[in-house]
Amino acid sequence: MSEAADAAAAVDTADTSAAADAPARGRVTFVGAGPGASDLLTFRAARAIADADVVIWAASLVQAEVLEHAREGAEILDSARMSLEQVVAVYERAAAEGLKVARIHSGDPALWGGTQEQIDRCAELGVAVEVVPGVSSFSAVAAIAQRELTIPEVAQSVILTRLGGGKTPMPPGEEVREFARHGTTMALFLSAARSGQLTQELLEGGYPTSTPVVIAYQATWPEELILRCTIGTLEETVKEHRLWKHTLFLVGPALSSSGTRSHLYHPGHFHGFRKADRAARAELRAQRSGS
Ligand SMILES: C[S@@+](CC[C@H](N)C(=O)[O-])C[C@H]1O[C@@H](n2cnc3c(N)ncnc32)[C@H](O)[C@@H]1O
Repeated sequence: MSEAADAAAAVDTADTSAAADAPARGRVTFVGAGPGASDLLTFRAARAIADADVVIWAASLVQAEVLEHAREGAEILDSARMSLEQVVAVYERAAAEGLKVARIHSGDPALWGGTQEQIDRCAELGVAVEVVPGVSSFSAVAAIAQRELTIPEVAQSVILTRLGGGKTPMPPGEEVREFARHGTTMALFLSAARSGQLTQELLEGGYPTSTPVVIAYQATWPEELILRCTIGTLEETVKEHRLWKHTLFLVGPALSSSGTRSHLYHPGHFHGFRKADRAARAELRAQRSGS
């Protein structure tokens, strides 16, 4: 197997034990650091940072306390000041010197993290890779708002997307107005700077103007601001508070609805770990056949 293929296989199978067995070609761990608050790091993320010879992070995306996990003497680099080439140069050094690098990304690295291009370069360099998932900002905002995003018979899907335009055009069919046609819960990233376009596309897709919206700025940071409005007042709310970055929108009827009772916890529902109550089961069956 070539070095590149070997490293690519490591990407597929990476887990803590596999990573611990990595050869002396170095290792890059992409660490999901959550939405900002340092206590939303996972244990695995904290371990990866503690284990690293080099930590690459961005102060604007993650609170400085995450660096308290870094060992004394670890090299700390600010990714905000680095191009991809400069970051890759660190991975080359890791390959040459057998260094462990922790590359910190905000939220979950799988979402708009620019991680794939780095993972691919690591595979070319023969550097072992591990990815540590993180708490995405959309989960954090749902938690702060105390809303379930999937309410029985109201919304059973969550669409994670962003507004098109600017530097990143959307692939055909992925415009917000297309996704809005589903009428389910949407989490919109990277879209605050164009709140007028966002409102227009949500309405064109068919949501009523009264659809509830949660706007979250710097969720889990000391500056956190959580605003509730509707699609009809989304643009004025964003402009009034001058939000244009670090802002996430949750949109959809699930944000103000209780829906129907979930079947999973109904006493009439049985599964491998729980028996159904007979009377409740009969009642549940009658409900189902009625509907
Ligand atoms: C480059 S994307 C990274 C998303 C990240 N990987 C995640 O899983 O949350 C940056 C966007 O994520 C959202 N975001 C990330 N952290 C946030 C926070 N603490 N509060 C509100 N929105 C946040 C904003 O929409 C921001 O523009």
